[in-house]
Amino acid sequence: MLIYKTEEEIEIIRRNNLLVSMTLAEVAKLIKPGVTTLQLDKIAEEFIRDHGAVPGFLGYGGYPNTLCTSVNDEVVHGIPSERILKEGDIISVDCGTYMEGFYGDTAYTFMVGNVKPEIVNLLETTKESLFKGIENAIEGKRTGDIGYAVQFHAEQAGYSVVREMVGHGLGKDMHEAPEVPNYGKRGRGVKLAEGLVLCIEPMINLGSKFIKQDSDGWTIRTLDGKPSAHYELAVVIRKDKAEILSTFKYIEEVLNG
Ligand code: MF3
Ligand code: CO
Ligand code: CO
Repeated sequence: MLIYKTEEEIEIIRRNNLLVSMTLAEVAKLIKPGVTTLQLDKIAEEFIRDHGAVPGFLGYGGYPNTLCTSVNDEVVHGIPSERILKEGDIISVDCGTYMEGFYGDTAYTFMVGNVKPEIVNLLETTKESLFKGIENAIEGKRTGDIGYAVQFHAEQAGYSVVREMVGHGLGKDMHEAPEVPNYGKRGRGVKLAEGLVLCIEPMINLGSKFIKQDSDGWTIRTLDGKPSAHYELAVVIRKDKAEILSTFKYIEEVLNG
C-alpha cells in the first residue's frame, strides 16, 4: 500500500530530514584520523536530542545506536564501535530522526584525510548516480526508471550495484512501500505520483556486487573486500521535478571549509 502525504505531513518529514542533514554536518566536523565511530555516534545522538527529536535508528529492529557507520568494505549498517578511523578510509554515515510522528533518513560517504583517486571517483560517481535517480523521481515515472538511471550511471563507470538493499518510502515508518531498487528496467515497477516520499540510496561497489552479512547480524560488507559507497536523500514526488527534503549543503559547507 502506498501512503501519499499531505503538505503538512511533508513539512514534518522535511524538518526531520533537515535535522538529519544538520546532524551529518556536525559529524562531518569530527571526521579525521584518530576519531572512533562511537565518538561520532555520541555527538549525533546529543545533537538530535538537543533539537527535540529522538534518534530514528536506535531500537529500530533492535539496532543499538544512532548512526550506521560503514567503513571501507562495509556497505551499510556498520555499528559504531571503538574502531579508529585512519587516513585513507571512507565512511558512510547514515542517520535517522523521529519527531512529530515521522522519520528522517539521510546518508553521506566521507573521506578520512587523503583517499586514493580511484576511491574518490567511486564516491563522486555514487553521488552522481543518486542525483540521476532523483531526476527520474517524478509523477508518472516508475521505480524502475529511478533504478535504471542509478544503475546505468554506476555501471558505465565500471562499478557494480548492490541488489539486496534498496531505497524505500518514508513517513510514519522508516521503511514504507514502495521498494526503490538501485537497478531496474525503464517503465517497470511501481508508478510514482505526487505526495509519495521516497528515500533513494544507491550502494555502489568498486568491485563486484556481492555482499555478505557479519555475525553481528547487522554489518553488510562486500564479498571481495573492496570499498563501497552510499549516499541517501529523501525526496517528495512532484509533477515536473522531485523536491529534495534532505540536503548535503550543510555537510559540504563543512567539508569545503
Ligand atoms: N537508514 C537505513 C536505511 O537507509 C536503515 C537503517 S536500519 C537501522 O534504510 F536499524 F539501522 F535503523
Ligand atoms: Co538511511
Ligand atoms: Co533509507
